[in-house]
Formats: sequence, structure tokens, C-alpha cells
Amino acid sequence: MSRIKSIRDFSLKGKRVFLRLDFNVPLSNPDENGVRTILDDTRIKEALPTVQYAREQGAKIIIASHLGRPNGKKNPDFSLLPAADRLAELLGCEVMLADDCIGEGIELKVNQIQQGEVMVLENLRFYKEEEANDLMFAQMLARLADIYITDAFGTAHRKHASTYRLPSIMPDRGMGFLIEKELKYFDNILHAPAKPFYLILGGAKVSDKILTIHSLLKRVQGVVIGGAMAYAFMKAKGEKIAPEWKQPAPEDVKAAKELLVEAERKGIPFLLPSDTNEGFDIGPKTIETYCQFLANAKTVFWNGPLGWFEKSEYATGTNTVAEYLSNLACVKIVGGGDTVSAINQAGLAAKFDHLSTGGGAALEYLENEGLPGIEILKSGYRPESPDLV
Ligand code: 3PG
Repeated sequence: MSRIKSIRDFSLKGKRVFLRLDFNVPLSNPDENGVRTILDDTRIKEALPTVQYAREQGAKIIIASHLGRPNGKKNPDFSLLPAADRLAELLGCEVMLADDCIGEGIELKVNQIQQGEVMVLENLRFYKEEEANDLMFAQMLARLADIYITDAFGTAHRKHASTYRLPSIMPDRGMGFLIEKELKYFDNILHAPAKPFYLILGGAKVSDKILTIHSLLKRVQGVVIGGAMAYAFMKAKGEKIAPEWKQPAPEDVKAAKELLVEAERKGIPFLLPSDTNEGFDIGPKTIETYCQFLANAKTVFWNGPLGWFEKSEYATGTNTVAEYLSNLACVKIVGGGDTVSAINQAGLAAKFDHLSTGGGAALEYLENEGLPGIEILKSGYRPESPDLV
């Protein structure tokens, strides 16, 4: 295995550089004119250093991303237009949006791009071949570029054509500045976290996160639980969940039970809410207990809001813990779109060390110490790559 090349390792001048970014940003519902607005542009902002660098170096920039889950069908509701417009505003230059992502017409357009110009391809997931990791689809994408650079950390856990098959068939491939930054923080959490290292988890489903929690129980000195997933742990401990609250799924209760047993065996404190705000947020006693527990933290990783933070009446738990953490002298890393939005909404982003652009990807990186879309950059060039499924 070789080391991963950085975008800095290539001479980009005059080259067609394929930038796989993650512009899968949360959008509002369409208004009366069918226009959707971006609710959180963190992922676009975080990709800017790479795009700007490629422009300064005189690359011809082709940006590709997915947006949402259009299930392999062209659907204007999932167009990358809002992301292309926002990128143009942030870069302060024109950004072209192609009406497709493969085909002869697109090849012609791409070959007309001048040095320093930027074109965004339309949503990759308008083709089912993207999620199927299809070789022919990847070959069509490969015809658009000389160099493949990925900065799509948020999608690096997916073995899709643009994140996995395409880099395997491009001899010149590497990563951008965002992935470099993400790896710096997550590798530190994995290999040398300052202790005590606490994990804060919220959101709905335990079963989605069980493997990560299991793996992190090897590294952390305490776990704090909020959000709807707390009910699974409370039920696993034999507590009654009021009928009007969200009832945990049986598989979540089973997963929760296993984790509680494991944490107890290891002697790791596992904090659950002792009160709630109408079942949609952690209550005042819990907020106080959690803040007291976190007071001596040296490293914190937080994934998942502690309540229904989109509703202001249930945002107190998430906001108060975020505010408290923001004033602690410890390394604070947040992963997951909702949690990052909550920190942004609370105006606290600047006080956190790292807001990861990965939700599922961040958890999988912590679980497996690697991600397919990053590992493939290390392995050898395989033009046909039939085995890459
Ligand atoms: C994400 O938001 O987690 C990534 O963009 C991947 O999207 P997906 O979960 O639809 O594959």
C-alpha cells in the first residue's frame, strides 16, 4: 500500500481535474416556484480551499456530487442547481451547471472549459449505475478528466461508482484539503486522544450506531446519551417508557442491552437521561448532570442532537450542552449533519475544533479505522477492476 497523494502532489495547470465533492446539503421543500433553498451550506464552504487551490493552479475544474436519493431517476427536485449557485456566490465567480453528468454532450462541454473555470455536473444519482458502483458508468466519468481528486469525506463510506470504481481506474488520483483535515482530527481521536475522552450520542436509532459504539467503548472513558435513542437504553434497563413518547424498536432495545452490558463490564460510565422535556428533549436535571460529568473532558466526540432541536422549545438540551462544551478547554469534534446544523444555529461553530462534514462516514471511520473511498486511493491502479464490488 502506498501513501495517499495530496492534490498538492499534482501539476494541475491546464489539466481537467475531476473533484468528487459532497454537496449533499439539506434543502428546504420547493417553494411555489419550485425553488429549494440550502438550509446549511457547511459542506460547500468546507470544500472551498480545494476548489480555490485548483483554480489558482490553472486547473479546468469538473465538480461531481450526489444530492439526496433520487433512486436512479432524473428529478428536478434533486438538481444540484442550488449548490452550484451557492458555490458561485462563495467563490465570487461564474460556476456552470451541466445538464447531465455523462455522455458525449458533456464531454464536449468539459473540453471547452478554460483554465480556472468551474463546472458542476448534474446529480450523479440520476443514474442507478452510480450507487451500483458500475464500471461502465465509471469509465464514462473517467473520460471527463485527467486527474481524480476526492474531498467527499461525507460519502467516502459508500462504494459507489464515483467514490470507489472511478478512482480505481484513474492512475492519477488523490485527496483534497478537506479529507486531509478530517483525517487529522479522526486519526487523533483513534490513536492519541487526550483523556478523559467522552462520547456524546443522540439521534434516533441505536442499531445504526451500535458497531461504532462497540468499537469506541475500547477508547472512551464515558458515554452520554440523549435524543430518542435514549429510550432504547432506558427500556433495556427495565424502565417504563410513557406511551405518548416515541417507543424504541425491539432491535434497538436489544442493541442497547448489549452495549450496557459491555460498558458495565469495562467499568465505563454510561449516562442516560433522568428527566425529559415532554419526551422530546433532555430535561433540566439531566442537562445539569451531563454538564457536570463533561467538566473534566479533554476530548469529546459528539454525534446526534440531544432532542428535537429543530423546534425551539425542544432545543434547550442540545444548545445548553453545546454552549457548555464551547467554553471547555478540550478537543471538541462534532460529526453528523443535524448536530453540525445545531452548533451552527447556536452560533458556536468557531468554538469547536472540528465540525465534520461526515455523519455516517465519520462513525464508520471511527469503527473501521478506514473508509472505502479513502482506502481505494492507496491501492494499485486497476483499469478493469472487475472485483471491486
Ligand atoms: C451523507 O449525507 O451521509 C452522504 O452525503 C451520503 O449520503 P447517503 O446516505 O444518501 O448515501
